[in-house]
Amino acid sequence: MSYFHPDVVKALAPHVPMPPEAIAALLTAPPDPALGDVAFPCFALAKDLRKAPQAIAAELATQVAVAAPLAGVSPAGPYLNFRLDRAQAGARLLTDVLARGDAWGDTTSGAGQTVCIDFCSPNVARRMHLGHLRSTVIGKALVRLHQALGYNVVRINFLGDWGTQFGKLIAAWRRWGDPAAAEVDAIGELQRLYVKFHHAAAEDPALEEEGRAAFKTLEDGDPGARALWQWIRAKSLEATAATLSLLDVSFDDYNGEAFYADRNQAVVQLLAERQLLVASEGAQVVELEGMPPCLILKSDGATLYETRDIAAAMHRAEVYHPVRSLYVVDLGQALHFRQVFAVLKQLGLPGAAGLEHVGFGVMLVGGKRLRTRQGDVVYLEDVLDQAIAAARAELEARSPGMAGAGAIARAIGVGAVMFNDLKQHRHNDVDFNPAEAISFDGETGPYIQYAHARCRNLLRKAGVGEGELTVAPHATLADAAEWALLTAIGAFPQAVRHAAERCEPHLVARSVLDVAQALSRFYHDCPVLRADADVRAARLALVAAAATTLRRGLWVLGLEAPPMRDNSAERGPVC
Ligand code: ARG
Repeated sequence: MSYFHPDVVKALAPHVPMPPEAIAALLTAPPDPALGDVAFPCFALAKDLRKAPQAIAAELATQVAVAAPLAGVSPAGPYLNFRLDRAQAGARLLTDVLARGDAWGDTTSGAGQTVCIDFCSPNVARRMHLGHLRSTVIGKALVRLHQALGYNVVRINFLGDWGTQFGKLIAAWRRWGDPAAAEVDAIGELQRLYVKFHHAAAEDPALEEEGRAAFKTLEDGDPGARALWQWIRAKSLEATAATLSLLDVSFDDYNGEAFYADRNQAVVQLLAERQLLVASEGAQVVELEGMPPCLILKSDGATLYETRDIAAAMHRAEVYHPVRSLYVVDLGQALHFRQVFAVLKQLGLPGAAGLEHVGFGVMLVGGKRLRTRQGDVVYLEDVLDQAIAAARAELEARSPGMAGAGAIARAIGVGAVMFNDLKQHRHNDVDFNPAEAISFDGETGPYIQYAHARCRNLLRKAGVGEGELTVAPHATLADAAEWALLTAIGAFPQAVRHAAERCEPHLVARSVLDVAQALSRFYHDCPVLRADADVRAARLALVAAAATTLRRGLWVLGLEAPPMRDNSAERGPVC
């Protein structure tokens, strides 16, 4: 029961030669709840105290003072197990959750500090693909997790809006552009031109030169090229706006690669001054230990993705002073970030120690890397649309004619995609299987959203608001299912903290799944509305605390918690 770890640390601290934080870091849950609620392993002390861990546990058991909410302590082999006074502990936890309401799980540990989160960051002139979906979903969760810890978060969309491909697009537009088609679907037309350019360039290599020349005019500020580029960028942003609003994501900083293009020279100069630049086959590179050198300047003098990322990090350090800078980008770019970070460290960038690549695996749909007929990857909007349609059908089957079904289906469909992603460690590949992810049973977003709505429905039926409940000091919560639910609720704040520290939102996803699963068992074992007055009051408080935890969990993960007046909740075993 991690919520009570501070009480255990307090009991142990006078008798254990370790700083309190070190004690706290060792505490775990006993393998069997019958043994106790919190366990302290004594292995780490064996060397210092020159005693067997078993002997240390036995000795500590006679020394530590047991005060409420602790009720007992006993050794079990090398472990010292603490038992909680469940009535007292439960009442204290519930009182705290109800008093904090939607601040439950929050801390102020990050107050006054800034975190930059670079996520989504699509390349313009193309539709966003599933890699960008993962970046956006994981990035949004990391934004919220850091906000929950009180950090000031700067959300950055580092658009891929510069590079030789823009020269190719400009050349292609001038040759084959169809303004009427662009009027209807600009991105579609740009993708067509891009593909056409590559096919044509395979036949006629002079085209490549034409593209390079066009990019040169763009770099040199030619008004015609510049206007075309502006148009491409604006149309691309327009196309992503709908998707981003569906995902309820916004940004504080849209400075993309183009913004840093004219700062590249400063990077090159600084590296040269520090004598870090080395000529290699006509190009300029920075040599790095244990990895290939980082390319800074091509032989034709053009700068690169690496250079622009270095310029961006320097600019962000100057403007935002982040203690932590997260780059939520697929694992395929791991080497790029290792190189860029290594160069920034050599430059002594302030905050360089806080640079982190938050990598993730690929996303499959139905077990496959789906491709459309043109051979392109699957688009993110298609996946979201599919999920929303599935949610709509499921809602219609469950509760025909539910009020506000459109908005609820959107929240459930989008939430299903998000949760499906966030429930696993981000390094794993994610398979999106619409039927599974949208199901109201199993480890899904809709399951959590439904569990939350069911709590709210029950409280409404009881005629109480979440904020109005209070808890008697010795609330009667004696059932095993009640304690299991309390334990799951009490574990939530630690899950939020660890998820933010390690950039692992799945820890929160698992935590809310634990709450929802404990809640089902509780509903099954413990009648609420039919119980005697004292028990009923305590159980309603428990349901309210569960609702708060689920809602906060959904928020931190970036999901909505829509109301669902599902008829089956009224008919079900709830009352
Ligand atoms: N635009 C890149 C892509 O779509 C991702 C950019 C990630 N962020 C960064 N700072 N490099 O692959």
